[in-house]
Amino acid sequence: MDKFAFIIHPLDVQDVARKFGFARRLPARVIEGALRYLPPMKVSHITGVRTPYGEVEGYFVGCPLTARQMLELPQGFVLKRIIQAGKVAEKLGARIVGLGAFTSVVGDAGITVAENLNIAVTTGNSYTVATAIEGTKEAARLMGIDLRCAHIVVLGATGSIGKVCARILAREATRMTLVARDTARLEGLAAKILYESGLAVTVTSDVKKALRAAQVVIAVTSAVDTLIGPGDLMPGAVVCDVSRPRNVSRQVAEMRDDVLVIEGGVVEVPGEVNFNFNFGFPPRTAYACMAETMILALEKRFENFSLGRDISLEQVEEISALAKKHGFKLAGLRSFERAISREEIEAIRARAEARLTGGKKVFIMS
Ligand SMILES: NC(=O)c1ccc[n+]([C@@H]2O[C@H](COP(=O)([O-])OP(=O)(O)OC[C@H]3O[C@@H](n4cnc5c(N)ncnc54)[C@H](OP(=O)(O)O)[C@@H]3O)[C@@H](O)[C@H]2O)c1
Repeated sequence: MDKFAFIIHPLDVQDVARKFGFARRLPARVIEGALRYLPPMKVSHITGVRTPYGEVEGYFVGCPLTARQMLELPQGFVLKRIIQAGKVAEKLGARIVGLGAFTSVVGDAGITVAENLNIAVTTGNSYTVATAIEGTKEAARLMGIDLRCAHIVVLGATGSIGKVCARILAREATRMTLVARDTARLEGLAAKILYESGLAVTVTSDVKKALRAAQVVIAVTSAVDTLIGPGDLMPGAVVCDVSRPRNVSRQVAEMRDDVLVIEGGVVEVPGEVNFNFNFGFPPRTAYACMAETMILALEKRFENFSLGRDISLEQVEEISALAKKHGFKLAGLRSFERAISREEIEAIRARAEARLTGGKKVFIMS
C-alpha cells in the first residue's frame, strides 16, 4: 500500500505541556530550550484512508519546535530540522510528505525542503485555499451576507494561502482590502488583481483599521500572537480563521455573541481513518493540508504539488476536483474547536441585526 507522511509540530509550549504533563511546571523558555535538542520522530501510524479508488496509509512525523521558534531561530537551523523530519518520513517508506502549520511557512514555503528530499513534498495549501473559500461562502450565506457587495478583508494577503484566496474572491467581490506588513508586496498583488479581475482593492498594514469596516474576513497570517480581539469587529462580521496558531483571540468567543468565527480548512476524510493521535478534531476529520497529502497519495501523484508562495488558481481547482472524486469534503462549520449549529448561527445573526438596526455601539460582554 502506498504511504504518505505529514509533518506536525507543537504550535506553542502549551501544546507540549498538554502532551507531557511534567512540562506544565516548567517555564516556557526551559521547554523551548529542551525542544531545540530533540530530533524529529515518528508520532503515529495513520490507517484506514479508504475511498472507492484506493487506500493509503501514513505517518505523523513530529518536528519538535514551536511556531515561535520556527520564526525566531536561525532559518538554516529550522530548515535542517524540517528536512530531518522529511528524512524520517522517507525511512518510513512515505512517497510524499505534507508540511503542517509553520513547517510550510519557514523560508520559501517548501521549495528548499523539497530540494533536499528524495520524496515528493506539498504544503497542502491548495486544498486549504479551496476549503477556506468554501467555508467562508457558506458562513456568509448563513449570516445573510452577499459576498458580491460585502467588504471583504484578507489578513495575510501576500502569503501562500492569502494571495490565492484574494485572487479567487476578487472574481466576484466589489469591495476588498488586503492586509500584511509589507506594503510594497501588497501593492504588487493589488496590481495583479486589477489586471486579472478589474477590481481595485485597498491595501493597508493597519490591521485594526481594516477590520473595523469588514463584513467578511479571511485570516491567514503567520503571526504567532493573535491579531483580532473582541473590540475589532463590527456586529454580524464573519471571520474564517485559517491560521494556526489562530489569528482570532479566544476572547472573541467569550465576549462577542454577534460575530461568527469559523475555523478554516477542516475536512471530513473518507473511510475509517484512525490517526492514532489526538490533534483536537472529531474522529475522521483532518486539516485540509493533511487531506491534500492523502489525496495526492491516493492519486499516486508522487510529485511536488503546492510549493512556494505562488500557488495557481488551476492547482486549487485541480485538488478540489480530486478531493470530490475521492469523497473528501468540508466538515460542518466549526468555531473554537466545536461544531456550530444552524440555530446558533441564526441566533448570532439575529443579535447582530438587532445591534445594527438599534444603532447601538458594539456590545461587548464582560
Ligand atoms: N488550517 C489549515 O489547514 C492550514 C493549512 C496550512 C497553513 N495554515 C496556517 O495558515 C497560516 C498562513 O500560512 P501561509 O503558508 O500562507 O504563510 P505565509 O506564506 O508565510 O504568509 C503569511 C502572510 O501573513 C502576513 N503576516 C505575517 N505576520 C503578520 C502580522 N503580524 N500582521 C499582518 N500580516 C502578517 C505575511 O506578510 P508580511 O510578512 O508582509 O506581514 C503574509 O502575507 C499559518 O498560520 C499556517 O500555520 C493552516
